[in-house]
Amino acid sequence: MEAIKETHFKFPGQTGFYSGKVRDVYYFGDLMAMVATDRISAFDVILPRAIPDKGRVLNQIAAFNLQATKDLVPNWVVSTPDQNVTIGFRCEPFKVEMVIRGYLAGHAAREYKAGKRLLCGVPLPEGLKENDKLPQPIITPTTKASVGHDEDISRDEILRRGIVSREDYAVLEDYTRKLFQRGTELAAARGLILVDTKYEFGKHNGQIYLIDEVHTPDSSRYFYADGYAQRQQAGEAQKQLSKEFVRQWLIENGFQGKDGQTVPQMTDEVVANISGRYKELYEKVRGEGLPPVDYQHISQRIEQKIIDSINSANLETKKN
Ligand SMILES: Nc1ncnc2c1ncn2[C@@H]1O[C@H](COP(=O)(O)OP(=O)(O)O)[C@@H](O)[C@H]1O
Ligand SMILES: [Mg+2]
Repeated sequence: MEAIKETHFKFPGQTGFYSGKVRDVYYFGDLMAMVATDRISAFDVILPRAIPDKGRVLNQIAAFNLQATKDLVPNWVVSTPDQNVTIGFRCEPFKVEMVIRGYLAGHAAREYKAGKRLLCGVPLPEGLKENDKLPQPIITPTTKASVGHDEDISRDEILRRGIVSREDYAVLEDYTRKLFQRGTELAAARGLILVDTKYEFGKHNGQIYLIDEVHTPDSSRYFYADGYAQRQQAGEAQKQLSKEFVRQWLIENGFQGKDGQTVPQMTDEVVANISGRYKELYEKVRGEGLPPVDYQHISQRIEQKIIDSINSANLETKKN
């Protein structure tokens, strides 16, 4: 099994390169090509081994959801020329991540258990237990740190610090709620509950665009709808469809992303297991099997697809 761990292309007309935790980004002026690699991160750390098929699973789930929401919110995508590649507008990202939650899970549940009843300035009612549905979805933004961990922040603080203007922030909130509503409907059609997710936005030519990935297992948490209520009633754990199981595995092996802790060794079995889970996710979220891929010459193929797509995107902009 092969995995795409890193890419080192040098394209004609390339104006920059950014290697994120998971994606490699190539800039071409106003355009960019994002290669979803098979790297996996958890607790803001890149794990030592790549996961075969993870990149293309993520890229295709994102592409599907970006397409399925573009009537609501303009997004950055121009084309998806390869299972691992998306081409689109390079935007100036807002320095916040718009997290929205329909249920009390993950970080929010941990804060609630610790006694907090105010999350990012949003009051939470008494009497909730982990994974309960919230009276209505809440927006709990985080800062987008260049280094280190993202931190919770309130709307007031975002405005006070001038991280986003009042006018733009109103649009981000409106878009976030509309996207989450649509995401909830798309999930329901697949027998899933969209528990929480995060959106990123940016500006391009003065317009606000949805950027990055949307409703993927890396940016979202899903539950199986079937049996949700019974499990909640019985106080049982929910069946999750997210990266949570990777975090759980790390925690069980003594790693929570804290300073001084080391990432546990990943055996072939662990890698294969995670890869299998991502494929299962694809099937569940997309309602069809993951298409086959030819791993031979994969690097050359990706390279050529990017060259061709950037050329045709440039031709398009010249025409208009
Ligand atoms: N259209 C876009 N314009 C500018 N930046 C973008 C766009 N879409 C995504 N990004 C950025 O590209 C990066 C994707 O790589 P990722 O592996 O998620 O990196 P990171 O470690 O920064 O989260 C992110 O920093 C994301 O904010
Ligand atoms: Mg990211």
